[in-house]
Amino acid sequence: MLPRTIDWVDGRIVLVDQTALPAIRTVAVDDVDALVDAIRKLVVRGAPALGVAGALGVALAAHRGVDVPAAAERIATARPTAVNLAVGVRRALAALPDGPAAVLAAALAVRDEDVAACHAIGARGAALLTDLCGPGPLRLSTHCNAGALACVEWGTALGVVRSLHSAGRVALVVADETRPLLQGARITAVELAALGIAHRVVVDGAGPSVIARGLVDAVVVGADRVAANGDVANKIGTYPLALAAARAGIPFVVACPESTVDPDTPDGAAITIEDRAEDEVLAGGPAWNPAFDVTPADLVTAIVTETRVWS
Ligand code: MRU
Repeated sequence: MLPRTIDWVDGRIVLVDQTALPAIRTVAVDDVDALVDAIRKLVVRGAPALGVAGALGVALAAHRGVDVPAAAERIATARPTAVNLAVGVRRALAALPDGPAAVLAAALAVRDEDVAACHAIGARGAALLTDLCGPGPLRLSTHCNAGALACVEWGTALGVVRSLHSAGRVALVVADETRPLLQGARITAVELAALGIAHRVVVDGAGPSVIARGLVDAVVVGADRVAANGDVANKIGTYPLALAAARAGIPFVVACPESTVDPDTPDGAAITIEDRAEDEVLAGGPAWNPAFDVTPADLVTAIVTETRVWS
């Protein structure tokens, strides 16, 4: 059983350190500088977990008595692509006129809503995949980590997998290793192993090709931001899976909370793609490290949230 990814314990934010996985290590964050550093270094990562980190970060700033609006701005801009981070910050900041206790209550509500949303997404997504693929055990492909460790618990895309698994309906999960930081190999694989779900890690270049070989029934991934027109930003390497799924005629399903859908971003071209440090690529020379890609809405079979199926 994995601990909660992120929580508020005795006036501090406690995180599962995702840079240490597969080892399970928790860290306590005491101040805003440490939180911003943890967000940038991916100690906490995954759009829903970032939303909770943003909200709890504002609560931490209020608790410490620092300049809360300035702290909120620094936290909200620590990473640019996952919209949940700024959404979480805004939710907690809105309670500031009512004092630190109200800010904390708002942040804890963001945390609790994420748990409820993930369970609803899992159930809705499992029902959708049953409609799309039939009742037999499914072979599913996923990318990056959209599991419990990307949220507070349970997960979005892996929440769908878990709902199917509890009904005995998962034959295999093909998990892309997810270069360069290996969220698939280090995090998704750890979660699936802990849950006893059959899985194989494949190198990113193999993900589309196993789909082309007819070895996958559906793709299910998370999202960092969904634009108003349905374009989906997610970890770099997601788009090739969508292309392969369209070519193979299998569903490409995105599972995310409503907080990931950004009505203020008209389309994928308006989404800021985070460029990370070139040393993460370890190429030994000049590198370019875009961390996300955009899948156009016409390649997405459906977006499943806690309240709707958008197709
Ligand atoms: O750079 P990361 O690890 O934060 O990227 C995370 C992803 O791309 C996830 O797929 C996305 O945030 C959805 S998590 C439920």
